[in-house]
Amino acid sequence: MGQEMSEQPFDLPPEKIPRHVAIIMDGNGRWAQQRGLPRLAGHRAGTDNLRRILEACVEFGIEILTIYAFSTENWNRPPREVRGLMSILERVIDRELESLHAQGVQIRHIGRMEGIEPRLQKKIRKAVEYTKDNDRLILNVAFNYGGRAEILDACRRIMKEGLDPDTLDEETFSRYLYTYPCPDPDLVIRTGGEYRLSNFLLWQAAYSEIYSTPTFWPDFDKEELRKAILEYARRERRFGRVPQKA
Ligand code: IPE
Ligand code: IPE
Ligand code: MG
Repeated sequence: MGQEMSEQPFDLPPEKIPRHVAIIMDGNGRWAQQRGLPRLAGHRAGTDNLRRILEACVEFGIEILTIYAFSTENWNRPPREVRGLMSILERVIDRELESLHAQGVQIRHIGRMEGIEPRLQKKIRKAVEYTKDNDRLILNVAFNYGGRAEILDACRRIMKEGLDPDTLDEETFSRYLYTYPCPDPDLVIRTGGEYRLSNFLLWQAAYSEIYSTPTFWPDFDKEELRKAILEYARRERRFGRVPQKA
């Protein structure tokens, strides 16, 4: 995995490379449907795709990758599909943990543990604990994740701790989010062609650049990621200010 990082894969100054990329991995179902396959085959193909995107992220110098794998709303899918998605995560942990660890990936879980089957909870905790000292790439896996649930959970913890309301500012609040201490995503990519956040990183994406591509997630390869980064590099992030060269 990208050992020879000396060669810049882009003709871009380093500050034009996003530090933190978040991906809404959408379109697995349609990818399968197009091939006359069951939706779960699409989810499996999507999982296989993750491996090459992880490698590309390391090669491109991205430090943090956050992936949306299962939303709090995805429980409303047919039970068979939900069960399939749960077992896919379980198998990924079983099969890939060792190689992810060897590649220096630090796995983190963002989302609610409650609601996930205890056996899978245990595996998630194990994967997080096992890789916690790795620092080549941080991989935040958003699983049973909802942006609203995250904000509510933060509020609950803040209230339980009895924080003085007058001292609460954005900096303090963000420390109670699942993603802490990661910085906000610079770039949010959505595959599958939709233009919505679907409850992903509602707080953190306040000033993220959004990139949507019609490519379905299983087909989103290294070249597609390169295109997204090049587009990101062309954007001017103003954060409410006036243009630089005004
Ligand atoms: C995204 O693919 C994966 C999950 C939501 C788990 P979809 O399953 O939403 O695929 P489409 O949008 O139906 O094609
Ligand atoms: C968003 O995709 C959730 C994940 C990729 C895990 P969905 O397919 O669930 O989103 P909607 O329903 O199109 O908004
Ligand atoms: Mg979808």
